[in-house]
Amino acid sequence: MSGLAFAQAPPPSVPMRFLATALAWGALAGCWLAWHGDVALLSRWTPATLVLVHLFALGLLGNAMLGSLVQFLPVAAGSPLPCARVVPCVHATFNLGLALLLATLATSSHALAAPAAVLLGGSLALFAALALVAVVRGSGVRVVRDGIGLAVLALMATAMLGLVLLAARTGWRMPAAAGMVDVHAAFGVIGWTMGLLAAVGAVTLPMLQGTRAPPVAAARAWQIGVLLTLCVIAADTAGALPVEAMRLAAWPFAVFAAAVFVLQARAPHRRNAMLRAFWRAGCAALLLAGVLSAWPGAAVVVTGTLVLGVGLPLLVVGMAMEITGFLTWIALRQRVPRGVRVPGVGTLFDEGGKRRALFAHVIAGGLLVSATLVPVLARIAGGTLVLAYAMSLHALWRCWRLSATWQARASG
Ligand code: HEM
Repeated sequence: MSGLAFAQAPPPSVPMRFLATALAWGALAGCWLAWHGDVALLSRWTPATLVLVHLFALGLLGNAMLGSLVQFLPVAAGSPLPCARVVPCVHATFNLGLALLLATLATSSHALAAPAAVLLGGSLALFAALALVAVVRGSGVRVVRDGIGLAVLALMATAMLGLVLLAARTGWRMPAAAGMVDVHAAFGVIGWTMGLLAAVGAVTLPMLQGTRAPPVAAARAWQIGVLLTLCVIAADTAGALPVEAMRLAAWPFAVFAAAVFVLQARAPHRRNAMLRAFWRAGCAALLLAGVLSAWPGAAVVVTGTLVLGVGLPLLVVGMAMEITGFLTWIALRQRVPRGVRVPGVGTLFDEGGKRRALFAHVIAGGLLVSATLVPVLARIAGGTLVLAYAMSLHALWRCWRLSATWQARASG
C-alpha cells in the first residue's frame, strides 16, 4: 500500500474493531448451529436458518466488508471515507441493530422489529452514503470505483428489501410478494458481497498475492453481467422465468472463482502463501456452488451453505488476517517514537497461526456442507466452526497486541 494511502487511512483501531467483531459473529454462528442442530440446515424457512444466514451474511461478512472498505477506500478509490469520526458509532449501531434483527427473526417479536429496522437500516444507509461520496470524489481507477459504487448501491437495495421483508414477517404490512426473498438474497450475495470482493480484489490480488491486475474489459464485462443478472432476477418476482433460467444466476460464483484460479496460477510474483491458500479454498467452494447450481435438483440449502457458510467466509477470514498485519504495523509506527526500529510488516502475523486457522476452517466448512446432507453432523459442524473462528480471533488478537507490547518496550 502506498504511503499516500496510509496517510489517508483511518486510525487502525477503527477497521480492526470491524474485523474482530466479524470473527466473533462467526463464532456465534457456530454456537447457534451447535445449539439448534439440523433444524438450522434442513429448510430455508425455519427461524433458526434465517438467523444462521444473517449471522454469516451481516455478522461475519457484513462487518468484515464494511471494515475492509474503511481501510481500502483510500487505496482502491483514491479517497478516504468522509466523516471518519462517525465510523465507530456506525459500527456500534450496526451491530446492535443486527443483534435485534436476529432476536426478531428468532422470535418473530413485533416489539424488537422497529428498533432493529431503525438501527440497522440507519447505520447501513449512513455508511453507504459516506462510501458513495468517497467513490464519487475519488481519483482511483474508474472501473474499480464503479465496481465499489455498484456494490454499495446493491447493499442499499438489499437493506431496503430486507426491511420490507421484516415488516411483512412481523405483521407491520401485507405479506411480501413471492420471490422477494430471492431478490433480496441475490442483491445481498451477488450484488453486494461478490460485487465488492471483485472490485476490491482487482486491487488487492496484485498488491497482496502478486497476481497481474485483471483486464479492464473483463472487469467491465463482469459488472454488466452482474447488473443484467440482478435485473433479470428482480423482473422475475412474479416467477415468470423457468427455474432452469434462474439456476444460471449462480454464474458469478463460478466465474469469480475461475478468474482467481487463473490469476493465481499466472502470478508473476507469488506472495503471502497462506492468503493464497485461503483464497484457493474459498474459491473451490464457490466454484462447486456455481457448478452445482446448474445441476437440476441441486438443493438450494447445499449451494447456499457452500457460498455463505464456506466460500465467502474463507475469503474474508484470509483477508482479515492479512490486513491485521498491516494495521498492527501502522499502529506500531504511530505509537513507537521515531528512530526506533519496528519489525517488518510481513513478520507481525504468525504464519503458523494462519496455517492452523486455515486447517480448522477447511475442516469446519467440510463438516458444515456435509451436515446439509447428513443432518446428524450439524452440531459437530457447529462446534468445529466455533473452534475455527475462536482460533482466528485469537491469532488476530496476538498480532494486534504486539503494537502495545512494542510501545511498552520502546518507552520502558
Ligand atoms: C438491513 C439488513 C437486512 C434485513 C433487515 C434482512 C431481513 C431479512 C428477512 C426478514 C428475511 C426473511 C424473509 C422471509 O422469509 O420472510 C431475509 C432473508 C434473507 N436474507 Fe436478509 N436482511 C438484511 C440483509 C441481508 C444481507 C446483507 C444479505 C446477504 C449478504 C442477506 C441475505 C439473505 C438471504 C440469503 C435470505 C434468504 C434466507 C434463506 O433462503 O434461508 N440479508 N432477510
